[in-house]
Amino acid sequence: MKLLNALLLLGLANAAFATPFPAGNAQAGEKLFKQYKCNSCHAAMLGGDGSAIFTRADRKVHNANELIEQIRFCSGNVGAHLTAQEEQHLGAYLNRYYKLQ
Ligand code: HEC
Repeated sequence: MKLLNALLLLGLANAAFATPFPAGNAQAGEKLFKQYKCNSCHAAMLGGDGSAIFTRADRKVHNANELIEQIRFCSGNVGAHLTAQEEQHLGAYLNRYYKLQ
């Protein structure tokens, strides 16, 4: 029973720190986001600074894979060729809106 409790606690602790972008750094992601002017289109579409696109009710992204795919798609919009590492950085940054686990 004790062992079971310990395992359960361990699981919860892991869940609390789990991130779908363990290799990403949110600060590096924020820099890339600004560098590529990622919100330029989003702002034209939705007004404000454009970040409403990440929190709109019918947003497209619902999991980490979809987020990486959308980042890839949108980076084509800005003619950027992101490395896997940069995708992880952007994912880590944008997860402030998505709060994916
Ligand atoms: C040329 C215009 C344009 C640029 C520049 C652009 N995007 Fe987008 N982005 C879009 C459009 C249009 C959508 C909405 C797609 C849809 O609703 O089908 C979108 C949606 C998104 C979403 C999904 C939002 C949701 O609904 O959950 C993410 C994430 C995203 N963009 C990230 C980025 C990132 C990161 C960059 C910079 C590398 C970027 N975008 C640059 C046009 C752009």
